[in-house]
Amino acid sequence: MGNVYVLDHPLIQHKLTYIRKKSTGTKEFRELVDEVAGLMAFEITRDLPVEEITIDTPVTKAKAKTLSGKKIGLVPILRAGLGMVDGILRLIPAAKVGHVGLYRDPETLKPVEYYIKLPSDIEERELIVIDPMLATGGSANDAIHSLKKRGAKNIKLMCLIAAPEGVEVIKNEHPDVDVYLASLDEKLDEKGYIVPGLGDAGDRLFGTK
Ligand code: PRP
Ligand code: URA
Repeated sequence: MGNVYVLDHPLIQHKLTYIRKKSTGTKEFRELVDEVAGLMAFEITRDLPVEEITIDTPVTKAKAKTLSGKKIGLVPILRAGLGMVDGILRLIPAAKVGHVGLYRDPETLKPVEYYIKLPSDIEERELIVIDPMLATGGSANDAIHSLKKRGAKNIKLMCLIAAPEGVEVIKNEHPDVDVYLASLDEKLDEKGYIVPGLGDAGDRLFGTK
């Protein structure tokens, strides 16, 4: 069964509070999402394998650590996942980025895929699927199925806020996928919005309505 981790670092929690606030405008919202994504990536990559290499410092030869193992791929779910990409790339600049375009039909709440473009070697990469919101779980579930169909074997899911319903879907459909959150919220409302949540992540990031 995949694990669910809530990253309770004080900086993540503090910034998430401002992300949630209705009074936070687009510019500040975007900056905070970017910052929290970086902080979450810092925590998520804690267990990346390292190896020792020998280097020359200006003083002497030394053994020092460098990242080894699988390369990383980021897969934002469009649109809102885009808001988390740069914050992660600042820490992992060599990561490749794939895109999955999905929107939630407002009537059925079912995801509709409209775009997919991935690095050619996804089967060899450790993929981090990113989306601020895991609500019914439909979008992330579809995105992960799409990646697996194309050969992805090693997937983590990173979201700012999840509802219990969405977490259950991922646990049941993808027991191999670990889920990383800044918050596990209370519930979904009748329109499929996370309560208390932050509203519509895409609209708040891009200033649309
Ligand atoms: C939002 C959000 C997720 C999805 C979550 O996207 O960014 O992708 O809803 O809901 P779910 O878990 O019930 O599928 P939306 O469909 O609003 O598209 P957008 O990012 O283009 O605004
Ligand atoms: N998508 C959002 O952007 N917000 C929610 O609360 C649920 C789905």
